[in-house]
Amino acid sequence: MVTCGPGLKDYLAAEIETLAFEIVSSHPGSVVTRGSFIDCMKLNYCLRTAFSVLYLLREFRCGSTEALYKQISTVPWEKIISPQERLCVLSRVDTYTVNNSMYPNMKVKDAIVDRIQRKLSNRPDSGKDRNGVVVNLFWKNDKAWIYLNTSGAKLSDRNYRKMPHKAPLRESLAAAIIMATGYDGSQDMVLPMCGSGTLAIEAALIAMNKPPGALRSNFGFKHIKGFDERIWKELRYDIRKTIRKDGLQKRIIATDIDPHAIDAARHNAKTAGVDHLIEFDVCDFADTPLPRDNGIVVMNPEYGSRLGQLEQLEKDYKRIGDFLKKQCTGHTAYLLIGNKQLSAKIGLKASRRMVFYNGNIECRLLKYELYQGEKP
Ligand SMILES: C[S@@+](CC[C@H](N)C(=O)[O-])C[C@H]1O[C@@H](n2cnc3c(N)ncnc32)[C@H](O)[C@@H]1O
Repeated sequence: MVTCGPGLKDYLAAEIETLAFEIVSSHPGSVVTRGSFIDCMKLNYCLRTAFSVLYLLREFRCGSTEALYKQISTVPWEKIISPQERLCVLSRVDTYTVNNSMYPNMKVKDAIVDRIQRKLSNRPDSGKDRNGVVVNLFWKNDKAWIYLNTSGAKLSDRNYRKMPHKAPLRESLAAAIIMATGYDGSQDMVLPMCGSGTLAIEAALIAMNKPPGALRSNFGFKHIKGFDERIWKELRYDIRKTIRKDGLQKRIIATDIDPHAIDAARHNAKTAGVDHLIEFDVCDFADTPLPRDNGIVVMNPEYGSRLGQLEQLEKDYKRIGDFLKKQCTGHTAYLLIGNKQLSAKIGLKASRRMVFYNGNIECRLLKYELYQGEKP
C-alpha cells in the first residue's frame, strides 16, 4: 500500500501505473499495488506524490489488545530487525475495543521488542523519530494490518527546502499540481508568486525526469535486515540513466515580489540541483516576463485564511484576473484558490476545477484557457 495526502490518490495511481505496477485498489489517502521488497525501493525512489510505501507483513482478525500482542508476536521480527536498530511504531486505530491508538501502539512495540529479546537476547531501542525501522499498524473494527514502512520519514519531505518562506506547499502537492497541468518539460512554465519555489522546483524535477528519491539518502528499507546495497545501487543507476542532463528546450520562469522569497527559492533550487534550469526574478506578478505563447502559467496566491488581509487580496485577485486576460493570452493558466469569495474577483470562467487539499484547506485548481481571439 502506498499512502498519500488527501485528494492525491488519482495522481499517485497514475504514477504507480507508469512505473508498470498494477493498481489493486485505491482509497482516499492510499493506493494498493503488488510488488516485492525490491519493488518498494523503486517506488520510494521514483514516486512524487506519495507519503509512504508500506510493505504488508500480516493481516489478521483482532478483537482485543491481547490478541494484537499475540498476533504481532508470531511475526519473525528477529529476522527483520537488528537489535542495533532504532524502532518507531505508528498506529492508526478505529475500533470499538480501544478508544485511542496509544495503548495498541505500545502493545505492538512491546510484542516486537519482546520477541527480539527472546530470540537474540538483545532488543532494539524505540522512539518517535522515523530515521530507523518504522512499523505501521492499521486496526479497523476486528481487522488489523501490520506493515513495514519502507520509506521511514515521509517521501514528501524532499530535503531541498532548506530556506522556508511563507505558506509553502507540501512538495507532493506541488508535484501533483504540476502533473495536473500536463507539464512535461516540452512547454514553457511560468510561476509568478512562486514563494519558496516549490512549484518551480517540482516542475524542473519533472522536466528533467529526475526522481525525487535522488534528493535523499535515508529510507526505511535501508534499516531492514538483509538490505542489499548492491541491488539498491544498480536500481538507482538504471533509473538515473533516464535523467535528462542536457538542459531544457523550454523555459521555467519563477518570480515573486518579495526578495526574501526569491533568495529562499534560489537556495532551495540549488539544493535540489535544478537552479540552472529556473530563471528567477523579483517583481510584481504583472511584470513577470512571459514567453510568446503556448506556455503554462501557475499561480498560488495567498488565500486570506492564513496570510494577508481580505480587502487587499480582493484587489490582488482582480489584478490577477486582468493579468490573465490582458497579458496571458495564448497560454493556459492555473490558479490554486482556497477562498471562493476571492476567486469570484478573477472575473474569468474556469474551464476546469480540480479539488486539492492544502493542509486542511479545501482548494480548487482553476484552469483558464486564454485563447487568442475566438475559442478554437
Ligand atoms: C501562498 S505564497 C506562495 C507559496 C509557494 N507556492 C510555495 O510553495 O512556497 C504567495 C506568494 O505570493 C507573493 N506575492 C504576494 N503579492 C505579490 C505580488 N503582487 N506580486 C508577486 N508576488 C506576490 C508572496 O510574496 C508569497 O511568496
